[in-house]
Amino acid sequence: MKLWGGRFTKETDQLVHNFNASLSFDQKFFRQDIDGSIAHVTMLAACHILTEDEKDIIIDQLKKIKKELEDGTLEISPEYEDIHSFVEATLIERTGDVGKKLHTGRSRNDQVALDMKLYIRDEIFALDELLTELLETIMKVMEDHTHTYMPGFTHLQKAQPVTLAHHFGAYFEMFKRDRSRLKDIYHRMNYCPLGAGALAGTTYPLDRELTAHLLGFDGPTLNSMDSVSDRDYIIELLGALSMIMMHLSRFCEEIIMWNSNEYQFIELDDAYSTGSSIMPQKKNPDIAELVRGKCGRVYGALISILTTMKGLPLAYNKDMQEDKEFTFDAVDTVKGCIKLFEGMISTMKINKEAMERSAKHGFTNATDAADYLVNHGVPFRDAHGIIGQIVLYCIDKGISIEEMTLDEFQAICPAFQSDIYDAIALKTCVNMRNTIGGPGEKAMARVIELNKKYLTEN
Ligand code: ARG
Repeated sequence: MKLWGGRFTKETDQLVHNFNASLSFDQKFFRQDIDGSIAHVTMLAACHILTEDEKDIIIDQLKKIKKELEDGTLEISPEYEDIHSFVEATLIERTGDVGKKLHTGRSRNDQVALDMKLYIRDEIFALDELLTELLETIMKVMEDHTHTYMPGFTHLQKAQPVTLAHHFGAYFEMFKRDRSRLKDIYHRMNYCPLGAGALAGTTYPLDRELTAHLLGFDGPTLNSMDSVSDRDYIIELLGALSMIMMHLSRFCEEIIMWNSNEYQFIELDDAYSTGSSIMPQKKNPDIAELVRGKCGRVYGALISILTTMKGLPLAYNKDMQEDKEFTFDAVDTVKGCIKLFEGMISTMKINKEAMERSAKHGFTNATDAADYLVNHGVPFRDAHGIIGQIVLYCIDKGISIEEMTLDEFQAICPAFQSDIYDAIALKTCVNMRNTIGGPGEKAMARVIELNKKYLTEN
C-alpha cells in the first residue's frame, strides 16, 4: 500500500494514517494527476530513460485507470495515503515491473505542485466562463434599461439620479476586472514544476522543456526549491475569489434592499425565493443572502492558507497539504454563487415605475438646480447655499423642488427663469451627464458599445 515502506520496521498507527492521508480530498484531481503522469512518461521515453514499449504500456493503463475512475468502475480504496499513491499502486498492480518505472525522476513534491497547478488552471477557465455568462446577463439588463431612472446613493442617502443601466454598469466593470485578475494569475503561474524532484532536481537527464510544453505551460519553473514550495498562485487565486465574492455580496445586498417591501424596485422570481415556516405572507431573498454570507467562507480560505504559509522554511513541508480542502471548497463555492446569482438576476422583475418614483423624491435634482444657477452667473458656492435654502423650504412645505412656483423660486433668488423646470426634470438631470462613464444616454450608449466589443473580443 505504501510508496515508502522500505525504511520502516513497524506499521503506521491507524490514527496517524488517517491524520496524514489526503486521499479523501486530493482524489478530486485524479484527472490532473494522470495527465501529469502521461506527460512525464512521454518525456522519459523521449529522453531514452524509458523504452517506447514501456511508455506505451504505462500510458495505455493510465488512460484506462482515468476512464474507470471517471465512470466509477474503479473504486478508490481508503488505505492509500493520497491520489498519487493510489494511481501508481493501481498501475503497478496492472503492469508489474513496467509500472514501477513511472516515478523515475519524480517526487510527490513536484507531482503535487503540478497537480494543483493543473487543477487551478482548469478552474480558472471554468470561472472565466461563468463570469462571462454573468457579464452577458448584466449587459442585457444594461441594454434594456438605459432609460430606467432610479436614485443613485451615497451614504445610502439619495444623491443624484442615475439609470439602472448605469448602476448595473458599475458591476460590469467589477466583474470585468475579476476576469482580468484571473488572467494575470494564469500567466504568472503557468510554469511547470515537474522535474524539480523532491527539492533539488534530479540526476536523470530530464527534458523539462518538453514536459512543460506537453502540458501547455509557458516553460519550466527556474528554481527547484521554489517549484515544490511555491503556493503563491493558490493565494492569488483565493485573493481573486475573495474579490469576486466581495463584489457578489455587494450586489446581493442591493438586491435584498431593492426586493424589500420598502423599496420594491425589483421582485425576485418565485423560483429564486423561499418562504417562512410560520409567516404565510413571506417571500424571502435567501439565495441573495446566502451568496452574501458565503463570502466569509472564501475569505476564510484565503486567510487560512496565508497563515499556513507564513514562516514555512524551504522547501516542501507537509503543512502545505492544508492548501487543498479550503481551495477546493472556495472554488466550488464561488462557481455555485456566480451561477445562482446569474439565474437570480436574469429572472427578477424590474419595477421601473417604483425606481423612477423614488428618483423623483429626495431632492436628487438639487445639484442640477445649483448647476442651473451657475449657468446663470451665480458662483457655485453661493448657488449651493441658495439651493440648500430651497431644499429646507420644500421640506417644510412637503413638496419637491420642481413643485415650487416660479414666484417662489424668484423670491429666493431672482436668477431663476421659467427654464428651471426643464433643467431640473429627472430626465434632463440624467441625460445632461454625458462625459464618458456617466449615466447620460450618449455616454451610456458609448460604454455599452465598448463593453459589447470587449465581450466579443475576450
Ligand atoms: N499529499 C501531499 C500534499 O498534498 C503530497 C506530497 C507528499 N510529499 C511528501 N513528501 N510527503 O502535499
